[in-house]
Amino acid sequence: MSKYAGRWETVKVEIENSIGWITLNRPEKRNAMSPTLNREMIDVLETLELDDEAQVIVLTGAGDSWTAGMDLKEYFRENDGKPEIFQERLRRDCSQWQWKLLRMYSKPTIAMVNGWCFGGAFSPLVACDLAIAADEAVFGLSEINWGIPPGNLVSKAVADTMGHRQALHYIMTGDTFNGQEAAAMGLVNKSVPRAQLRDAVLEVADKLLAKSPTVLRIAKNGFKRCRELTWEQNEDYLYAKVDQSNYRDPEKGRAQGLKQFLDDKTIKPGLQTYKRG
Ligand code: COA
Repeated sequence: MSKYAGRWETVKVEIENSIGWITLNRPEKRNAMSPTLNREMIDVLETLELDDEAQVIVLTGAGDSWTAGMDLKEYFRENDGKPEIFQERLRRDCSQWQWKLLRMYSKPTIAMVNGWCFGGAFSPLVACDLAIAADEAVFGLSEINWGIPPGNLVSKAVADTMGHRQALHYIMTGDTFNGQEAAAMGLVNKSVPRAQLRDAVLEVADKLLAKSPTVLRIAKNGFKRCRELTWEQNEDYLYAKVDQSNYRDPEKGRAQGLKQFLDDKTIKPGLQTYKRG
């Protein structure tokens, strides 16, 4: 039994072979993100960040949905008319896990998009480092269909991944698209038949598990921040990241990699990763 069994009401967490599986677990509501789920996800992510047993994180959904976006009843309608300060708090909880924590998370994250993915779901989708979808998954920027523009960081997330014309088309029409279309647009890394989804995620997760966690963290976070800096700033920042990585990496991956290639001649880094340990 998972050590986290029963700890959260709306999220299930299991760790298996160094992978932390986070499952949004309200299948009867298509895993819509309620205020309770948002608060719990902050705790889930903060907990797993400190759990050495979980080295790679997979975010998925129970049943036939990844997440149907923000909970239209519990997040929106039930809070209409509540004090502004209360509404700000609900928004802060969303942002906190859906992109602030996830985007710069200290462990690699993979969104495993098993089904419905609507509206607010695009923030955590894009904040995850990688995303693999089922061909059968259905995506939509459905906000326009129930009368609001996309909120939180949805438009920003879409602008960072999809092309300008495609993003505006889906924002303005609310049309849906499937996993293969999402992959063709660059919104997810790839799309496979649903029956192969878990295996496809495991294949990528295993590759990540073979790398130095410290170097992975610095590489992915450096990439995400570099988008917002100028070329001049990036030269300084990214070299600082290399120096930080050399200093921080407890397994001294650089020295191992160079030795295995140059001295032992046991690896070709162009084709495979160095052997850890
Ligand atoms: N917020 C609140 N409740 C939601 C929800 C959401 N985003 N998505 C689904 N649910 C609830 C439904 O209200 C229903 O609850 P009920 O059984 O108490 O009536 C239950 O989940 C099942 O939904 P249903 O519509 O019957 O499922 P379906 O499989 O036929 O359709 C969807 C699935 C995702 C296509 C459909 O539920 C939907 O369009 N949801 C809204 C998606 C959306 O626009 N999200 C925007 C977020 S910004």
